[in-house]
Amino acid sequence: MKYTIATLPGDGIGPEIMEQAVAVLEAVGEKFGHTFEHRYGLVGAAAIDEKGDPFPRETFELCREADAVLFGALGDPKYDNDPKAKVRPEQGLLAMRKQLGLFANIRPVNTFPSLAGKSPLRPDLVEGVDFVVIRELTGGSYFGEPRGRSEDGHKAFETNIYSREEIVRILKVAFEHALARRKHLTVVDKANVLVTSRLWRETAQMMEKEYPDVTVDYLFVDNAAMQIIQNPSRFDVMVTENMFGDILTDEASVITGSMGLLPSASVGELTSLFEPVHGSYPQAAGKNIANPLAMILSAAMMLETGLGLHDEGALVREAVSRSLEEGYVTEDIDPQGARSTSEVGAWIASYIRRK
Ligand code: IPM
Ligand code: MG
Repeated sequence: MKYTIATLPGDGIGPEIMEQAVAVLEAVGEKFGHTFEHRYGLVGAAAIDEKGDPFPRETFELCREADAVLFGALGDPKYDNDPKAKVRPEQGLLAMRKQLGLFANIRPVNTFPSLAGKSPLRPDLVEGVDFVVIRELTGGSYFGEPRGRSEDGHKAFETNIYSREEIVRILKVAFEHALARRKHLTVVDKANVLVTSRLWRETAQMMEKEYPDVTVDYLFVDNAAMQIIQNPSRFDVMVTENMFGDILTDEASVITGSMGLLPSASVGELTSLFEPVHGSYPQAAGKNIANPLAMILSAAMMLETGLGLHDEGALVREAVSRSLEEGYVTEDIDPQGARSTSEVGAWIASYIRRK
């Protein structure tokens, strides 16, 4: 089979980790007889520099026509400390999510036994942690109107808005994930304070009846933040709004021992997109030191979730686990015996070819 992949390396370490994911896909293609045709597009600071737009129209078209989108990372420090910058790379990411209708962000959090000692949490707390956060991605205060500054500039506001329709479609994704897993769904909100959260909770309570096999519990977001640290193995599937999900997924990502390991999928209306949870890590750009595993695991998620190629995705994940067990890893995991980004990528590609 032939698959067209919209390939968007982005900024910072994006291009060098993407190169490794492409090499791994090449190995998968040879092994299983598929062709992955990569069509490259610009996004983020790279796109601002060349086109003056962080998500140019041609990149949108590329994504829309492809079978899946593989995306590296975006962001450049030259924009961070300029409050007056008119366009920012991050707007490219938000535009991409909105225009492609990517309303559900799926972030699995699981630990690799070989990395238990790397977690900031005690090993007994991280053992067996295996949950997935479903974050609503195109609503809430990220996009709500009106937003802005008062005329005198001394007040600023956003609008946190959710329609029942938006809540139902994300909860459906969450209930379906729970059904396919350990059948336990945790709905995270702030219903003791926010009216939007009360609509979320009311909607979830109505939908519970359609999924009698799923056990549902409700947590306030502050409590959830605490339990991710105190008792992370209690979670199976967690679902929450855009902003809470942004914060909780960063928190959850570090308990695994390295942020360089977590992939994510964003699914929705026009296509689906796969990207690492980490950012563009500009300090490491061009040094061939960044961990390519989250990017490679995002490619694995693309094979499985995006293209339905389950054996192929499983083999990539097996190769990644083996590289960790063998200690063939980048400096974030092993500062002493560190391998480079391209060495780790090449090891994984060759494992796949040998298998
Ligand atoms: C993420 C990031 C983005 C977000 C930023 C870069 C806009 O933090 O994907 O989690 O806030 O959604
Ligand atoms: Mg974030």
